[in-house]
Formats: sequence, structure tokens, C-alpha cells
Amino acid sequence: MTAKELRDKYIAFFVSKGHARINSASLVPENDPTVLFTTAGMHPLVPFLLGERHPLGSRLVNYQKCVRTGDIAEVGDPVHLTFFEMLGNWSLGDYFKEEAIEFSFEFLTSAEWLGLPMEFLAVSVFKGDDDAPFDREAFDKWSSLGFPDARIAKLPKKDNWWGPAGQAGPCGPDTEMFYWCGGGEVPETFDPDDKLWVEIWNDVFMQYNKTETGYEPLEQRNVDTGMGVERVTAILQGRSNCYETELFKPVLDKLDEIRGLSEHPNERMRGERIIADHSRTAVFMLADGVVPGNVDQNYVLRRIIRSAIQKGRRLGISESFLPKLAEVVVSIYSDVYPELQKNAAAILDEMEREEAQFARTLEKGVREFEKLVSCVPEHILRKVISGKNAFKLYDTYGLPIEITEELAAEKGFEVDLKGYDKAFKKHQELSRKGAEQKFKGGLADDSEKTAALHTATHLLHKALKLTLGDHVAQKGSNITAERLRFDFSHPDKMTPEQLAEVERIVNEVIDADYPVVCEEMNVEEAKNTGAIGLFVDKYGERVKVYSVGDFSKEICGGPHVQRSGVLGRFKIKKEESSSRGVRRIKAVLDGATNEKD
Ligand code: ALA
Repeated sequence: MTAKELRDKYIAFFVSKGHARINSASLVPENDPTVLFTTAGMHPLVPFLLGERHPLGSRLVNYQKCVRTGDIAEVGDPVHLTFFEMLGNWSLGDYFKEEAIEFSFEFLTSAEWLGLPMEFLAVSVFKGDDDAPFDREAFDKWSSLGFPDARIAKLPKKDNWWGPAGQAGPCGPDTEMFYWCGGGEVPETFDPDDKLWVEIWNDVFMQYNKTETGYEPLEQRNVDTGMGVERVTAILQGRSNCYETELFKPVLDKLDEIRGLSEHPNERMRGERIIADHSRTAVFMLADGVVPGNVDQNYVLRRIIRSAIQKGRRLGISESFLPKLAEVVVSIYSDVYPELQKNAAAILDEMEREEAQFARTLEKGVREFEKLVSCVPEHILRKVISGKNAFKLYDTYGLPIEITEELAAEKGFEVDLKGYDKAFKKHQELSRKGAEQKFKGGLADDSEKTAALHTATHLLHKALKLTLGDHVAQKGSNITAERLRFDFSHPDKMTPEQLAEVERIVNEVIDADYPVVCEEMNVEEAKNTGAIGLFVDKYGERVKVYSVGDFSKEICGGPHVQRSGVLGRFKIKKEESSSRGVRRIKAVLDGATNEKD
């Protein structure tokens, strides 16, 4: 059975049971700030689960696009995916446990529908705790349908309870259905920890509304179910994993073609699977209007695209390849999700742009790596890239550790991975403290705000040069605790696109969390290092040169913050003429944190 047949059967089955079909909502939740992405079919239905009347009645069915990044470390195994399609049926205060379980059982096992053999199935139910009792009704129902006790696991809340990501909202015990994917004899007893039992469907019985104070019984009891299209398609086709089905195979075949392989292997390496998964996820996100960037959904998309590119490099692909895979993804889904075809040009465009940008980042990192390596004399036998340096390559130049390792191996170097991990953890700890600080709110005093705006001015200066050209030169600067003002030479009014680009660059550097380093040197040396700065005379012989990572280097008296990451969000408030040939920008930082240098 194909994925298309599965979707159609599911809808037909539940329509035959009085359900109305609804469409998949966008991956970007419209009114739910508790999640970045739609992670389940229930998200768009929250108001109706809480009692609002749905115009199509109390029984609904659909398939819904979902993204979950919580399991991202497991992606690449046979069943975990970042994007997946969820088949779902809902009862809004209509039927409850008995009927829901009957529907699930019939759809799974009846020869008219999926016809899965019952001996390959097992289920789990909620075992009960202080908040809610053992789900005896669910247990008894499965028993009455012929499941032996050994195939009904009783599990705690961490396994058999569903509610939106620990937040407030409708929730309750669930019962999950598993399929034996291990081949050979099916074990008599269901062991939920055995990964060969693959979860395929989850029926949630929403009886409670979680509030800040606890679990309140819901007036309207609902059923919310979710079945993974990719997993069940694989099972129905007797495949051992999702990547062997028509939903992924053409993408992987294209990848082979790009790599110049003449044969398509059956078993795929993890890296290949991740590329297939991530390119599909990226296409769906882009189709729903997410673009790569530095915050929220945009950041997740950027990470996913970059991780795919990195994996591609490790497979030896040096040219642009994601748009080629994206084209295949679009064609696989064009009849199911028309938004992919409709936005195809923009999707490919964005991917290409992001790929190019990442390639530039990598290039810079590789240059830095070469510099490091060239400092080590030939005759040293055990050549090591220290953890500190490996981390610097990652942190300051964006070079992923896997790539450092590869480059090192090529040159006969080892990488001190333990040292790298240590440096990484230390950095995380500092960031965490920074985040806590941020949470406490704002900067402690005006001088700290000023320091942040000083650093932001350097970033703005450099971003303007990059966007408008090297003719941009500082003509004046004025900083108060609230805003920065920067005058610079440029003949024309800036376009909205240019302003957006400058903002984007500055925020990107902020997110890269580069260290801000101050060095003292004489003017001549400063000029030789390429530092910019127009008011040299004022500073006398010795000057301070502030660098923000390798992004900007500028002569300045300070004060500055210690890392770009504490600046918050950079926003241009105004761009106007200051005098002939000189433009003026006023900009602010939202949510800056930190102590000054
Ligand atoms: N909302 C439930 C889940 O995602 C059905 O598992």
C-alpha cells in the first residue's frame, strides 16, 4: 500500500464513521505561542478541544504536517523524523475510550482496511499516579478485543500521557499501539523498551485541563489520535525503515546521482538518511513561509539546512545540492500539499542562498584552520589541534567540529575532543548564565546599555560597508542609554531591502556570540591589521583596537561588552539624511544583557 492509499483509506474509514474531513493547518502555529511548530494534529484544534464549537461538528479527521525537533538526535534511525505527517481523528465531546479503541482496532486489523495481523500488535495504557488513576477502561477494552495481558503494558505518565509539551492545556492518559518490526518470531511479551516494537498510533483521552495549579477535569471529554504516515507506510510495505518507501527513496536516489554513484544501495548510511530527512523538512518549512534566520522557527530551519549541507560535504559533495533534492521532494508531494509546488521557485531560491552563505562561513573557517596548522613545525611528531583552538574554530569562525576533525585527519593532526567538549560546556554554562541574566530583565545600568550600543555601532558600521560598499565611512556617532546614532557617507537613501539586510547581518553576528577582544597597539600597527576608525588623531600614539570575532576590527576607546551574544535584537528605527552625501541611522537594542568590559 502506498502512502497515498494509506491517507485515503484513513480518511474514508473515519468519514464512514461520521467524521468530517478538515485540512492540514500550517506548520507554523497561528495562535499558539507555546510551540514553534505544529507538532501534532491537535495544536490547531485547541480552542475546540477546550469547548468551542467546531463548524464541522464533533467528529473530525485529517492528515496534518508536523515538525518535531525534540528527537533530532535520533533522526537517521529507521523511524525518527523531524518532519512527518500525522493521521488523526478527533471526538470533541462525542465518543470516548470505548469507541476510539474500537475504531483504531478495526482500522488496523480489518482486512477491509489495513489488515495488519493482530499477533504483530501490542498496546500500552496509563498505569496511574497521584494525579490520575490507572486507565482501567482502556485496559479492559483491549482485553475484550483479544489482547493477552502480556501484550498490554501499563506505563507511567512519561510514556502514556499526552499534553502539549508540559504547558497548560488539554491533556490526559493515552493508549499507544505498537507493531513488531523485528522479523522472525514475534515475542510473546511486549517490551516497550525494545526498539523493534515501533509505536504507530496514539489515542489520547483528554479528560483534564492542565493549569498552573494542577489537573482540572474537562467538561468536554475529547479523543485526539495520531498515527505516523511514514512509519505505517513502511510497515505496510514490509520495509524495515521509512527511508525505503516512496516518500524518501527518490530523494536518496537523487543524492546518489549527485554523488556520481551508479547503484542505489538498499541500506542507507545515517548521514544520507539525515540529508533526506532534513531536505524534506526544510522544503515543508519554506513552503509555509519560514526562511532561514537567527531566531525561533527561522533558526531551526537554518540549523536543519546547515546540518544537511555539512553531512553532504562529508559524503564528498562540494557543490550546491540541496535545491536538487528539494525539487524531488516537491514532486513527491505536489498532489497532496499543493503549497509546495506553488512556492517551489522561492523554496529553491532560499535554499540556494543559504547554501551559498554557509559555504562562505565554512571557507573562512577552513582558512583559519590552515593558519593554525601552519604554525606547527613539521618535525613535531604528534600534532594536535587543542580543544581550545577547535572550539575557537567553531565558536568564532563557525567551523563545525566534524569538519575540523576531517581537515585535521587529512593533515595528520589529532583533535583534542575532550578539550573541545570542555570548552563547549564552559561556553554553554556562560550562555546559560547570560540567559538567566536576560530573563531577570534588561541591563543593570545605563553604562552597560551604552557599552552594548558601542559594540552595536561597530557591527552596524561593518554591516553598512558590506551592504552598501567600501565607500561607507563613519562621519559621526552619538550614543545615549536608549539608542545609537550613526552618521556615514553614502549618496542615496537606503532601500528597505538594504536596511533589512544590515539588520540581518548585525543580528547574525549577535547570534554568533563572538568574543569582543581589545588589543592595544600603536596607530601604525592598527592600520596594518586592517582596523578601521576615523578619529585616530584623538587617541594619540597607542590605541585600543576592538575586534568582534573576525567580523569587525575598529579603533575605539570603548567601552564594549565582552561577547556579541549579549546585545539582544538590533533594530533600525530611522534612516534619514544628515547632510549632503551623509546619511544618519538611529537604532536600538531590544533585550540587551551583560556587564561591560
Ligand atoms: N496528540 C497525540 C500525539 O501526538 C495524538 O501523539
